[in-house]
Amino acid sequence: MTEKIIEIKGLHYSYPDGVAALRAIDLDVFEGESIGVIGPNGAGKSTLLLHLNGILRGEGDVRVFGLEMRDENLKKIRSKIGLVFQDPESQLFMPTVFDDVAFGPINMEMPQAKVGEQVAKALREVDMTGSEKRAAHHMSFGEKKRVSIATVLSMEPRVLVFDEPTGNLDPKHRRSLINLLKRLKPTKVIATHDLDMVAEACSRVILLDKGEIAASGNTADILKDKRLLEAHSLELPPSFIK
Ligand SMILES: Nc1ncnc2c1ncn2[C@@H]1O[C@H](COP(=O)(O)OP(=O)(O)OP(=O)(O)O)[C@@H](O)[C@H]1O
Ligand SMILES: [Mg+2]
Repeated sequence: MTEKIIEIKGLHYSYPDGVAALRAIDLDVFEGESIGVIGPNGAGKSTLLLHLNGILRGEGDVRVFGLEMRDENLKKIRSKIGLVFQDPESQLFMPTVFDDVAFGPINMEMPQAKVGEQVAKALREVDMTGSEKRAAHHMSFGEKKRVSIATVLSMEPRVLVFDEPTGNLDPKHRRSLINLLKRLKPTKVIATHDLDMVAEACSRVILLDKGEIAASGNTADILKDKRLLEAHSLELPPSFIK
């Protein structure tokens, strides 16, 4: 049987100002799966993702590789789960692109030569080779997004968690990112409004609305359900319109 690598039971989360962003979330993620998390603005997609590596801690049970989400497990959990934020500005904080992409590998105590290799490979995968010495804060949004994806790829985590990975990418780089997602072996959890990307890259879909799981199932079954999508402020993805 495939290993259950993320186990969420009865997760509730309210932001400090009282906004209830997640209610009674139950979710199991199995090794090698690629899960699309969809839903309207404010549904709770980003909030859910931020629970997967303990950036946010709600009420309920979140386990990753059998480890409870507790302070003493965070370092281990974060070396296994690589999370790319929706906003790349939250991801990039070092003086150069190289330092940002090398940060994870260095933190994981990879040997120096290996760090250089991992950075080069990750930047190649997002077509940002040559940007090593640049300052991320001088880049365009889409370029920042691609570098922020590289900061996680360089660690080769067991689980890749992406928040809106194709947001603001031009068609060429959106296409190569989708191809990369399809090629990458690790388990993936991807929050997005890009339902055509979900159709190509995800095997299962969770539809969130108002902090709750409104539907979940096989990708094609959810994405062809016009009534369900429209009831949650979504629409049929272009590739599903005949
Ligand atoms: N830092 C915060 N403080 C207070 N409320 C927040 C905060 N971040 C998000 N929220 C609220 O929590 C709810 C869920 O937000 P979240 O960002 O998880 O939605 P989302 O599904 O990712 O939306 P989008 O599609 O716009 O990215 C929303 O009502 C939002 O206004
Ligand atoms: Mg979001």
